[in-house]
Amino acid sequence: MECTILDKFVINGGHKLYGTVNISGAKNAAVAIIPAVVLCDEPCIIENLPKIRDVSVILEILKNMGAKVTRIGGDSSRVKIDPRGIKSYRVTCERLVGDMRASYYLLGALLGKFGSAVVPASGGCSFCDRPIDLHIKAFRSLGAKCELLPDRVELSSEKLMGHNIDFDVVSVGATMNAMLAAVRVPGRTVIARAAKEPHIVDLANFLNSMGANVKGAGTDVIKIKGVEKLHGCTYSIIPDQIEAGTYMAAVAAAGGDVTITGVIPEHLESITTKLRDTGTTVEEFDEAVRVIREGPLYSCNVKTMPHPGFPTDMQPQFVALLSSAQGKSRVMECVWETRFSYVPQLRKMGADIIENGNTAHVDGTTGLHGAKVRALDLRAGAAMIVAGLAAKGVTEISDIRYIERGYEEIIEKLTALGADIRRVTYVESNEDVDL
Ligand code: UD1
Repeated sequence: MECTILDKFVINGGHKLYGTVNISGAKNAAVAIIPAVVLCDEPCIIENLPKIRDVSVILEILKNMGAKVTRIGGDSSRVKIDPRGIKSYRVTCERLVGDMRASYYLLGALLGKFGSAVVPASGGCSFCDRPIDLHIKAFRSLGAKCELLPDRVELSSEKLMGHNIDFDVVSVGATMNAMLAAVRVPGRTVIARAAKEPHIVDLANFLNSMGANVKGAGTDVIKIKGVEKLHGCTYSIIPDQIEAGTYMAAVAAAGGDVTITGVIPEHLESITTKLRDTGTTVEEFDEAVRVIREGPLYSCNVKTMPHPGFPTDMQPQFVALLSSAQGKSRVMECVWETRFSYVPQLRKMGADIIENGNTAHVDGTTGLHGAKVRALDLRAGAAMIVAGLAAKGVTEISDIRYIERGYEEIIEKLTALGADIRRVTYVESNEDVDL
């Protein structure tokens, strides 16, 4: 008999959360900043890296390309990346690249450095069809020839020049890739309708720390003056807005009183506002937020939008939260319009959710009970945890590899807050072995 050994999370719900949790570095900043080092001619030290699988994978890809990556003081949150060994614009490690979405940042970085790039097709969370036409539009505006083949993307150029890039849709990835491609290109590049997420600003700050000339990140228009060379620097990544938001939603769902430290409260504004609508108290400090939920949880309406709107990456966790809130909530998804594939999993836990196009109607009156569910992608998995913490009884979440792409030590952090959550290794034949 063939057996597969897998891990799942088992949550005994209904325990309130108390204490303090510290937030790690931002995944979506790290996965762009690490490829950005390719543009540099000297080593860089990156600090506050989250210890998550997506970061290990992108570091492994850089090593495969010839970079030297060393942990500083044995701590994997602080690494030195020496890109001088990267001599080719061709990335060959298909399996690693195919494992994560953000490997597409290598396109912009290699194009900016070598004027050409060949990168295998990227993978990652597939909650929706995820096009890259806007990335290609940006590369073409700078003068690149682009070929999209079934298994790879090929970019080449005779001479790249700064240019105006006007996106039709606000895209985080395309804005980042346009910045990466443009910083070393002669002339002036103006990116209109740019994304404004905190990680866009973080990438711009990192590029500027290496000597780039990027202005306006965090507004609709980013202006870049190309520079010839970039130098090494030491840079610390911002805290993860979505990890912090997930813990905020978890406390609101389970009840309790938790201080979430190492955050930038301004990045959490839209999440804070919605949590207050549910009757949750959120106190803001310089680098922390305190979330208290002792009384009933109330319904509210949520609409996802690009930053500074409510983040789509918090939508599944909020639907989970609202599944045990008194009354009817409406959650409208305006970034990834079909991002509700996890809803049947919540229904197994008793959630009363009706989907209508890009809107989920959630009636939390009856609350949630434990069930066996799957983490269909990173944030869908986080939603199962939020639901499991609030539910009565035991929730088992399989496919946790998705959750581990983006949450550092989530079991340890939740356990320290008083949650009853553990990892169980099991054999797929359904015989669970508690290790
Ligand atoms: C990034 C985040 C992801 C988040 C998303 C929106 C990373 C690694 N991932 O993804 O977690 O959910 O931002 O905040 O940072 N679009 C196009 N053409 C393109 C690119 C995007 O039409 O070429 C559309 C998409 O279909 C989507 C919208 O633009 O509707 C936003 O996507 P985008 O901001 O690009 O998301 P990602 O950068 O892939």
